Amino acid sequence: MNTSKRPTNSTKLMPEITRHLECQAGVPGVAPELRLVIRSCFLGWSPWPLTLSGESGSGKTCAALVIIDLIGGLYHTAASLVDDVREARFGRLQHPSGHTKSDREVWREWTKARVAVLDEMGTRESTDFHLEVVKRAIDLRYGRPLVCVSNLGLQDLQAVYDDRVVSRLGGGTVAFMEGDRRADQGHVVVVGTVLEKTGVEP
Ligand SMILES: Nc1ncnc2c1ncn2[C@@H]1O[C@H](COP(=O)(O)OP(=O)(O)OP(=O)(O)O)[C@@H](O)[C@H]1O
Ligand SMILES: [Mg+2]
Repeated sequence: MNTSKRPTNSTKLMPEITRHLECQAGVPGVAPELRLVIRSCFLGWSPWPLTLSGESGSGKTCAALVIIDLIGGLYHTAASLVDDVREARFGRLQHPSGHTKSDREVWREWTKARVAVLDEMGTRESTDFHLEVVKRAIDLRYGRPLVCVSNLGLQDLQAVYDDRVVSRLGGGTVAFMEGDRRADQGHVVVVGTVLEKTGVEP
């Protein structure tokens, strides 16, 4: 992690982040190490974008959504952002209020969000258009809160995207998350045993 002091305009969001990232009664909190990393980014000690990389179920999306819940922001998967930009270019993207959204509006919203999250990066083979959108999404958030999320590490992302995307992510802060929390929660029911216990004939 690059810990050089580099103030960003996200510093003003810090009091809210500090107050809320703590574990609240009965609510699973963000892991302490990750809290530290998120704080460092918001304080400008560690550079944006923050990339959360790790195996499926390690809590990447939840952590990113916690930040949005706390301070407000915009969530997209790479695929949904690419779809929105494409649909908007063709004049097919409807705003909930009924008007047709232009791609300029899509990008304006992305740029202005307090925090932007780009989830599921690298899950599909990327077309030139996909690559162009992802690169622009990162560039428009330069020096501002952006959380990139992927199951892949930077090396594998380089194979899916290109070195320009990876160089942008590598210039930020990368946090590796471990452990499959989904599997921890899973319920395994051995049907034969259940039937025996309830006395029902299989
Ligand atoms: N801090 C946490 N404490 C306890 N449970 C958690 C925590 N974070 C996430 N979980 C649980 O783990 C599950 C997986 O989380 P999440 O969807 O964020 O994983 P992911 O890393 O984004 O997975 P994928 O790569 O498949 O998208 C969720 O159902 C959530 O309830
Ligand atoms: Mg996820």
